Amino acid sequence: MEKTNQLYEGKAKKVFATEDPSLVIVSYKDDATAFDGAKKGEIRGKGAVNNRMSNFLMRKLEAAGIPTHFAEELNDRETVVKKVEIVPLEVIIRNVSAGHFASRYGVEEGIVFDEPVFEFSYKNDDLHDPLLNTSHALALKLATREEIDTIRNMALKVNEVLKAFFAGCGVRLIDFKLEFGRLPDGSIVLADEISPDTCRFWDAQTNEKLDKDRFRRDLGGVEEAYQEMMRRVFGE
Ligand code: TMP
Repeated sequence: MEKTNQLYEGKAKKVFATEDPSLVIVSYKDDATAFDGAKKGEIRGKGAVNNRMSNFLMRKLEAAGIPTHFAEELNDRETVVKKVEIVPLEVIIRNVSAGHFASRYGVEEGIVFDEPVFEFSYKNDDLHDPLLNTSHALALKLATREEIDTIRNMALKVNEVLKAFFAGCGVRLIDFKLEFGRLPDGSIVLADEISPDTCRFWDAQTNEKLDKDRFRRDLGGVEEAYQEMMRRVFGE
């Protein structure tokens, strides 16, 4: 499968057309941003880590009955995925308080929730991805009620599969962000990526952060954390 013209360049990935109109090629960059692009940098090797980890997890989720956009890994940085129309919602699941949950509600990080927290934001950098509830999303016609139900059920199932998998790697899955897309037949599939850019991972023994918070918060050891997550997942 060959790339033809570039369709889109995002903060962390480029998307290319292919000769098959139903498939696109995603190319993962080492570029890193935070705070809606206000902070910029590079994390060497990140593109390859995110590409390989995301594909591995998407395959695992497919095996658990969750439909995804994944088609074929081409090389370290490039993957063929089904072309979808992205639903403009950032779907977040939280198992433990951290990040914006802690700052928004004035609580410490590390509180274990009795049940997962489900939330979504409007995917819109200019508006700083504002938090939404279902009626806001319906009023803005971002998705139908049926799609929101499907997305919620799929996101909670993703959480169960990933939490169990990462526990086996000695990693606590604190929270993560998912994006979903519509195929031409209107069905919803998991899209985008699942990686240290989009999840919070804490070491199960020490609670050391092994994710993009090291970049967001200038904690140092950023590249090392991404490589450590590769070792945990692939045993490399
Ligand atoms: P938050 O606590 O900042 O809302 O982040 C929740 C989760 O979502 C965390 O695992 C990081 C991820 N995330 C993204 O993938 N993209 C984003 O733009 C933001 C703000 C968070």
